[in-house]
Formats: sequence, C-alpha cells, structure tokens
Amino acid sequence: MARYSDTTAIVTGAAHGIGRAIAARLAAEGAAVAVLDIDGAGVEETAGLLRDAGHDARAYRADITDFPSLDAVVSQIEQEMGPVGLLVNNAAYTDAGDLEGMALDAWHREVEINLHGTYHCLRSVLPRMTERREGAIVNIASVNGVRYFGNPSYSAAKAGIINLTQSVASEYGKHNIRCNAILPGSVRTDNASWKIRQQKDPGIFQKLGRWYPLGRVGEPEDIAKAVAFLGSQDADYITGVALPVDGGLLSGMNVMIGEFVFESDKEAAEA
Ligand SMILES: NC(=O)c1ccc[n+]([C@@H]2O[C@H](COP(=O)([O-])OP(=O)(O)OC[C@H]3O[C@@H](n4cnc5c(N)ncnc54)[C@H](O)[C@@H]3O)[C@@H](O)[C@H]2O)c1
Repeated sequence: MARYSDTTAIVTGAAHGIGRAIAARLAAEGAAVAVLDIDGAGVEETAGLLRDAGHDARAYRADITDFPSLDAVVSQIEQEMGPVGLLVNNAAYTDAGDLEGMALDAWHREVEINLHGTYHCLRSVLPRMTERREGAIVNIASVNGVRYFGNPSYSAAKAGIINLTQSVASEYGKHNIRCNAILPGSVRTDNASWKIRQQKDPGIFQKLGRWYPLGRVGEPEDIAKAVAFLGSQDADYITGVALPVDGGLLSGMNVMIGEFVFESDKEAAEA
C-alpha cells in the first residue's frame, strides 16, 4: 500500500465526508496530504486524525472561489510540503433542489463554487505541474453531470467539470499530466442536501438502495478507493475518463423494469 510514498497530494473539501475519506486513503498509501477546505475547524480535525494515525498531513483553510488567495495557499503548500503531484478537486456545495423554485443567487453560488472553484484549483496547480512535466488530477463530478437527479445548478456545474476534465486531459497530456473524473452516485454523507433529505426521511439511504444494482448506496471509502487508483501509476495510461462509481446506477433502470416484468412473466419463462 505505498503507491503514493513520494507524492504530495492536495484534497479540496477535505473537512468532511468523501474528501476526508480520500485524504485518509491517500495518506494510508503513503502520500503527504494537504487537506484544504473553507471550514478551518473541520480541516484541522481531518489533519489531526491523519497525524494521529501516523500519517503526514497538514490543514489549509482556503476558499476555492477566491483565486488569488487560493493560489497563495497552493504556493504555501508547495513550500511546506513539496511539489504537488496529485490534485483531487472534491470541494462542492448544493442545496438548491429544483429549477422552478431556485433563487437566482443560488444558481450563481452553486456554479461559482462547483465549476469556477474547480477551475481555480486547476489554474493554480497546472502551471506548476507543467513546469515539472508530471502530475495527476482527479475531479469529483457526479452522476448528476450526465442525468437528471435534481439539484440542477449543481448538476450543470458537474457536467461542466466532466467537459473540463476532457479539456485538461487533451491539452496537458503532452506535459505528462493526466486528468480524470469520478461520478459518484448517492454516497452516505451529511452534506447539505442529504441533511435536508434525512430530516424529511431518516431512512432515505436504506430506501434508495433498491435503485442500485449492487443493492446499496455508496460509502465515502468507495469513492476514495477509485481516486487512489486513478491518481496512481496503476492508471498511468488512463486520462480523460469519467468513471461512474455508482453501484451500477447508470447502467439501467432496475426499478422501472420491475414495474413491467411481472412475477407471472418470469414464471411463464421458467416453465
Ligand atoms: N454525497 C453524495 O451523495 C455525492 C454524490 C455525488 C457526488 N458527490 C460529490 O462528492 C464530493 C464530496 O461530497 P460530500 O458529500 O462529501 O460533501 P460535503 O459537503 O460533506 O463536503 C464538501 C466539502 O467542500 C467544502 N467546501 C464547500 N465550499 C467550499 C469552498 N468555497 N472552498 C473550499 N471548500 C469548500 C465544504 O466545507 C465541505 O467540507 C463533492 O464534489 C460532491 O459533489 C457527492
């Protein structure tokens, strides 16, 4: 488990949920991890947990929507932890459920954080990787980037991230930089959207399992494992992909099929 022993990684949005799990996985595989988040207390907690487990981790508070200060923090990370070999763009936000009810400022806020914020991180890190002719980037997009599952401003931003992933892969391959995206399905975290939904239905994650061919929603570690693969040398000929890590959600419509394949049909076929 030492695929990252010579690597400094930045994980954005690492104060909570999936970002924290990604940071923990990369650290367990030997990376020095810069955990970055707008939530200063949360990111200190993540770094503390990783250090307590014997890993090399430091906390950095930064707002990915503010390019100049983000860029200064990335410079600080490189001074304190060494050249960044892996960037994981994971920070995100959504609480705007549908298009009809959406306030104008909610649209702008979600595109700003999710799409522009991701671009800012790329803009800061890519020139540094280009100079060294080495680097890997994993963008956390979503199944929302390719289908409608609510949260339309967030989803439009995630679709943008998938396309941006292809731009980076196409333009920066010549600099030995790879860029891939991961599309999680529902993952058990306490982010803003899931908090709202769980208040309405505490059993929501259990209930959603039936939509997933593998019978359950994702756990943060499911995403972390995929990030650790795509960011590593094991994926050194893979760039520009958008990999669903979704328990099979995008592969079909099991619940719909269940509506029109009746037990009597199955019995007749088996007879
Ligand atoms: N949980 C899911 O069901 C799910 C599904 C598909 C995709 N995803 C994606 O996975 C990633 C992590 O999701 P999560 O559920 O762990 O969310 P989360 O809300 O728990 O974590 C997101 C983190 O991003 C940080 N953040 C928000 N705005 C920021 C800013 N301006 N600057 C810096 N940091 C900022 C937050 O403080 C938070 O710690 C996101 O990209 C999300 O879109 C999650």
